[in-house]
Amino acid sequence: MPVIRFVREGRDVECYPGENLREVALREGIELYGLKGRLGNCGGCGQCITCFVDVAGATAGSLSPRTAVEDQKLRRRPQTWRLACQSLVESSLLVLTRPQSPPADGDALWATAQASPLPVGPTAWPEPPAPEPEEEVAGAEVEGPTATSDEGAGELPGER
Ligand code: FES
Repeated sequence: MPVIRFVREGRDVECYPGENLREVALREGIELYGLKGRLGNCGGCGQCITCFVDVAGATAGSLSPRTAVEDQKLRRRPQTWRLACQSLVESSLLVLTRPQSPPADGDALWATAQASPLPVGPTAWPEPPAPEPEEEVAGAEVEGPTATSDEGAGELPGER
């Protein structure tokens, strides 16, 4: 499975091939947004431009190609920046969250992240489990109702 190495956080997170980078980050408790995005974001529609990530380095091709939304919204940003909500993880990669506010020790963080190899990934989505054969239980036939009349329907107790 692909591994996303979050450079700022120093965490490796596994995901399935094709998972949305924003959804993986949120699921894993990674702080994806700066203050503006925390106060209000578009929920992954590609409209608020607050879910920036930087995927610089040799793993930049590990995400799906830029979408038309990204081409438009990121035209004044570095080529290595992506919108997490528009990016699908195809194989293992390094990601710097909130690159608009780079960490003071950013170069050291990148060097540390690049020092150890990433697992290869991707493989594939796991096969669904085989359906279990239905078991027959002796004497477990379901019988229909035995009383079929409307006896007593609409009568109050003691009216007979
Ligand atoms: S969450 Fe709004 S652009 Fe990504």
